[in-house]
Amino acid sequence: MAEFYDQIGVGYRDYRAPDPRIQALITQALGDAASVLNVGAGAGSYEPTDRPTLAVEPSPVMIAQRGRPLNPVVRAHAAALPFADNSFASVLALLTVHHWPDRRAGLEEMRRVAQDSVVVFTHDGFHDSFWLMDYFPDILELDARIMPTAEEFASVYGRVEEVRVPIPADCSDGFLAAYWRRPQAYLDAGVRGAISAFAMIDKVEAGLEQLGADLASGAWQARHGELMQHDKLDLGYKLVIASPD
Ligand SMILES: C[S@@+](CC[C@H](N)C(=O)[O-])C[C@H]1O[C@@H](n2cnc3c(N)ncnc32)[C@H](O)[C@@H]1O
Repeated sequence: MAEFYDQIGVGYRDYRAPDPRIQALITQALGDAASVLNVGAGAGSYEPTDRPTLAVEPSPVMIAQRGRPLNPVVRAHAAALPFADNSFASVLALLTVHHWPDRRAGLEEMRRVAQDSVVVFTHDGFHDSFWLMDYFPDILELDARIMPTAEEFASVYGRVEEVRVPIPADCSDGFLAAYWRRPQAYLDAGVRGAISAFAMIDKVEAGLEQLGADLASGAWQARHGELMQHDKLDLGYKLVIASPD
């Protein structure tokens, strides 16, 4: 079956270098887990290289971009993980669960194959809290449709811990909100090409035109200049850490 990321994932690695500050939070969440499964692993960002680790990824285009040293990768989907119960001490899913067509089955599969913990890097949904939404409001509707809710995690995992992931102003992993202090970046087609939301909404051109005009006139700076005083910002990103029985 053709994968969405076979179309949009070309060049992912060029714009999505793992950010060391986010890496540190993920490493802390994994603790001393003796073995790891990374589901929806993509090009391998944030994947441990210091312990036995296996990756699961459905898109050959993403698999081809995996860095070195390589952990072995299995081509599969989250909803049907080809592993026995309790096969891995910890299971990771990083910036991927919002892409799963059958998310609940995927979350349950992660619980099944995890012995100790499941760690999910995800997002609250923007709820109007980020200036980019003024230009691309369709992302709000998209988010409401595809972002997992706290209730969903609770219904699969019971009680979970949440760790906020503030986004550094110079974040090297170019996901949707990474350029919150670098607005000009969103005008770059390469930057947008590595952000799935732009491939999933309409009216991108109108938003780009308005953003370009606001940056040229100084209107953006007048409205959001205060952001330049911050080095990092909580924009809704978080780690959800579950330790199901
Ligand atoms: C935004 S990328 C994130 C990749 C990597 N985890 C990272 O943090 O850079 C989302 C990944 O999820 C994968 N994906 C999409 N649907 C999936 C599914 N049903 N099961 C597992 N992975 C899936 C995509 O192919 C893509 O590689």
